[in-house]
Amino acid sequence: MCGIFAVIGSREVSSLLIDGLRKLEYRGYDSAGIATIENLNNDQIGQLNVKKSKGKLKNLSNLIKQNTPKGHVGVGHTRWATHGKPDEINAHPHLDSSGQIAVVQNGIIENYRDLARDLKLKGIKFTSETDTEIIPHLIGLEIENSLANGLSQNEQTLLRAVQKVVTLLEGTYAIAVIWSKAPNALVVASGHAPLVLGFGEGEFFCASDTPALVGFTRTFLPLRDHEIALLTPLGIELYDDDGNRQHRAPSLLEGTELFADKRNFRHFMLKEIYEQPETAQLWIDRFLPIDLPSQNSVALPISKSILDKIEQIQILACGTSRHAGMVGAYLLEQFAGIPTKVYFASEFRYAPPPLSPNTLTIGVSQSGETADTLAALRMEKERRDSIDDDNFSFHQLGIINRVESSLGRELDNVIDIGSGIEIGVAATKTFLGQMLAFYGLTLLFASHRQSRTPQEILNLSNDLKLIPKQLTDLIKKHDSVSKEIAHMFVETKDVIFLGRGINYPIALEGALKLKEISYIHAQGYPAGELKHGPIALLDQHVPVVSIAIPGVVYEKVLSNSQEAKARDARLIGVSTYGPESDIFDELFTIPDVSEWVSPLLTVVPLQLFSYHIAAHKGLDVDQPRNLAKSVTVE
Ligand code: AGP
Repeated sequence: MCGIFAVIGSREVSSLLIDGLRKLEYRGYDSAGIATIENLNNDQIGQLNVKKSKGKLKNLSNLIKQNTPKGHVGVGHTRWATHGKPDEINAHPHLDSSGQIAVVQNGIIENYRDLARDLKLKGIKFTSETDTEIIPHLIGLEIENSLANGLSQNEQTLLRAVQKVVTLLEGTYAIAVIWSKAPNALVVASGHAPLVLGFGEGEFFCASDTPALVGFTRTFLPLRDHEIALLTPLGIELYDDDGNRQHRAPSLLEGTELFADKRNFRHFMLKEIYEQPETAQLWIDRFLPIDLPSQNSVALPISKSILDKIEQIQILACGTSRHAGMVGAYLLEQFAGIPTKVYFASEFRYAPPPLSPNTLTIGVSQSGETADTLAALRMEKERRDSIDDDNFSFHQLGIINRVESSLGRELDNVIDIGSGIEIGVAATKTFLGQMLAFYGLTLLFASHRQSRTPQEILNLSNDLKLIPKQLTDLIKKHDSVSKEIAHMFVETKDVIFLGRGINYPIALEGALKLKEISYIHAQGYPAGELKHGPIALLDQHVPVVSIAIPGVVYEKVLSNSQEAKARDARLIGVSTYGPESDIFDELFTIPDVSEWVSPLLTVVPLQLFSYHIAAHKGLDVDQPRNLAKSVTVE
C-alpha cells in the first residue's frame, strides 16, 4: 500500500528518494511522486520542485532523468488509490494554494469532507480528488496566521503548524511535510499509521517501513502514535502530541536479507515458493524440541499461566493470514481440544462476539501492519481492559513475520514465523510459516493439557519433521507439472476449489491465490456445499480443483468430486496416488502423509498452479493490479 520515503542531509536527494521508494514498491502502488526544495538564496527561501507520474516508479525515474529536481531535502510517495483515480493529479505530493508546502500521506482522513468544506468556504481551491489535499491547505493557513502574528519563516513555524493541524485530523495518517521557506526542515507525524525515522551519517530519513532504509542506515526509531518529528541536517527532534520533547534510543535493524533479490528466478513469488522448505526447516530447528511429548516442550513464547488458564481462543486476521488461522483453529479444536473461532478482523472490529472469559486472542499478520487486524486487536484490548474482572483480561498473541512492525511492537507475546522478507504480494512462504506456528501451538496445548496421548503428540511432531524434505520434492515435481498444464487455463473465467475439514481453508487459499495473480474468478467451498448451490455453475468451461487426502473425509470429497465430473467439469486433483486417482483429469500427487499435516503440502501445487497461469498470461505476478502487500487502510 502507499509508501513514504523522505530524506534531509547534505546530498542531492532526488535519486535517494527514488532508491528508497523502490524498496517499498513490493507493497503495491499505482502512481508515484517526489518533491524537493532547491535552496536558492542562503537558507532563507527555497524553491519547491515536484514531479509525479502515473504507473510504475520507472516512469517517475525517467521523468526525473530528463529534468532532475535539485535539493537536499525531499519527500517521496508511492500511492495506492483510495480517494480518486490512480492518475498524476491525485498522485502525491500535494501542495497548498501558494505552492510552497508539499505533503505526502499514508492512511485515510475520515473527516476530510468536513475539513474540505470549511476550506472551500475560505476560498481554497482543490486540484485533486484526494483526502490528503486538505493537509497542505490547512498547514498553509496555519503558517499564514503564524506569520501574520510575527513568527518567522523557519522550521519551528512549520513544526508548530503541523502540530496544530494533526489535531484536526480523524482517521489514520502518516505524513511528511516540507516548506520552501524552511529549506532545512522536514516534519513528519504519525497517527495510527506507521512511520520510522532513520539515523544516517549527516543525513536523516523517514519511511513508512524499514526496508526503505536498507542501504542508507540500519539505525531506526519507530514513531509512536501521535508523535511528531522535526528532521534537520543536524539531527532529529521528537515530540509527543502535547509538544513535549521525547528521548528514546534507536534500534538496529537486524537481518542481512531485509531487501532480497530475485536470484535466478523470474519472479519473487516463485523464489518464495521455493524457499518454503527452508522456512519449514528453520521453524523446526527453532521450535520443535527433541524431547516431545514432555509437557510445554515446544519452544514457543507462551507462559504457563496462559496455558493453564485459557478456555477458548479467538483468531483475528485477513486474507491468507485468516486461512492460516482456519487451519490453526481446526488443529486447536480437533487435535488439542480447545474451542477456537476465526474472525475476519474487519468484521470483528464492528461486530465482536459477547465477551468470553479466559480467552486467548491471536492476531495473525505477515506484515504486522494490516489496519483491520491492528484495529480489531486494539478494540478487543480496550473492551477487556474496561472490565474489572481478571477472568476477562486480555491475553494476546501475535503471529507475525515482522517483529519490528506495529503489531510486533503493540503485543507483548509474539511468535516470529521467521520466513524472511516476502516481496511477492501473493503470500506463500509466510502462509506456510503461519500454519507452522499453529502446529507449534497445537502441540504445546495438547501436551500441556494432555488432550492427546504422548504417542499421538509424538506422531504429529515426527510428521512435521519430514515436511521440509517433502516440500522440496513436491515443489520440484509440481513446478514442471503446473508449467505444462498452465496454457490450458489461460482462457478460463471461473474455477471452483473444493476441500473439506483441515483442507477446506486450503481450497479457500487456492482460490484466493488464483484470483490475486491471474485475475481468474475462483471460489473455494467446503466440498459438501457444492450441491447446495455452486453446482449450478458447472459445465465443461468451469474446472474444479479438488483436494482429496486420505482421512476422515476422503471418501466424501471423492463423491463430491464425482458430482462435479458428472456435470462435465474438468477435474484437477490434489491427492495421493491410488486406485481412485483415475477420476481426475489432471493430478497433483501428494505423498501419503497423515491428514493432520497435509495442508502444509496440499497448498504447494495450488501456489504453483496459480503462479504458472499468471506467468503464462504475462501478468505482473509480484505486484498484481489493485493489490498491496501491507494493507494499511481500513
Ligand atoms: C495474500 O496473498 C494477500 N495478499 C492478502 O490476502 C493478505 O494475506 C492480507 O491482506 C493480510 O495481510 P497480512 O498478513 O499482512 O495481515
